[in-house]
Amino acid sequence: MHIVIINGSPRVKKYSNTDKIIQSFAKGLEEDGSTYELYSLSDRKEWDAARDAFNENDNIIIALPLYVECVPSLLLEFLDTLPTKRTKSAQLSFILHSGFDEGFQLRLGERFLRALPAQLGCTYGGCLVKGGTFTIRTSKPQDAEKMTKPYQAMGRLFAQRGTFNTREAAKFTGPEQYPWLLRLMVGLILKNVVNKKFERFAQGWGCVRPLDYKAYQDNS
Ligand SMILES: Cc1cc2nc3c(=O)[nH]c(=O)nc-3n(C[C@H](O)[C@H](O)[C@H](O)COP(=O)(O)O)c2cc1C
Repeated sequence: MHIVIINGSPRVKKYSNTDKIIQSFAKGLEEDGSTYELYSLSDRKEWDAARDAFNENDNIIIALPLYVECVPSLLLEFLDTLPTKRTKSAQLSFILHSGFDEGFQLRLGERFLRALPAQLGCTYGGCLVKGGTFTIRTSKPQDAEKMTKPYQAMGRLFAQRGTFNTREAAKFTGPEQYPWLLRLMVGLILKNVVNKKFERFAQGWGCVRPLDYKAYQDNS
């Protein structure tokens, strides 16, 4: 099986967490005999070749980070340049990941992606969903590998099954939400420690209003 992978992150390849995820996933693909070609949308010089590959191939994966709860605008801009009808049928699948851990905050983006293939004349090959990727590029290599290694197994599985619509891929997301006690503790830490630190930063920079001040609203 030959797969076209498109990195939809606006962050340059060298610093892109999505790229590191793709490298691990592709290792798994190759272990199971599949081949791939990769395009990174952060480099606009690759857009023409990415569009040609999208049109000429029958198995495409778009890998993307969650940006502001949904799809990065650079990827939307690229999608806008694709034809809505194809001469060759194709399956379009997605790897969607995000900084924060909990699965449920990626579900809106997933819903958008589920509706997308039909608009581009493709069938839907599922969406691999996982959070917790903020620190891949800033971690020590062995810690970064701990975060990206699980994608290798998912690459092997995709090469075998040809889809993310599998029980294993669904399980890969991990917890939808932290347990309530942990959420309570994180909330308290944010309120009492993290926010206070940001307040001090802001005061140091000369800010005179609280950080939760809402401009253009009656704050009295
Ligand atoms: C502008 C911007 C918006 C982001 N929005 C979200 C978000 O809404 N939810 C989230 O969990 N992570 C968010 N993130 C974190 C990214 O999804 C995460 O850092 C990801 O690993 C970035 O991948 P990349 O390096 O390939 O761009 C955001 C990051 C940036 C730079």
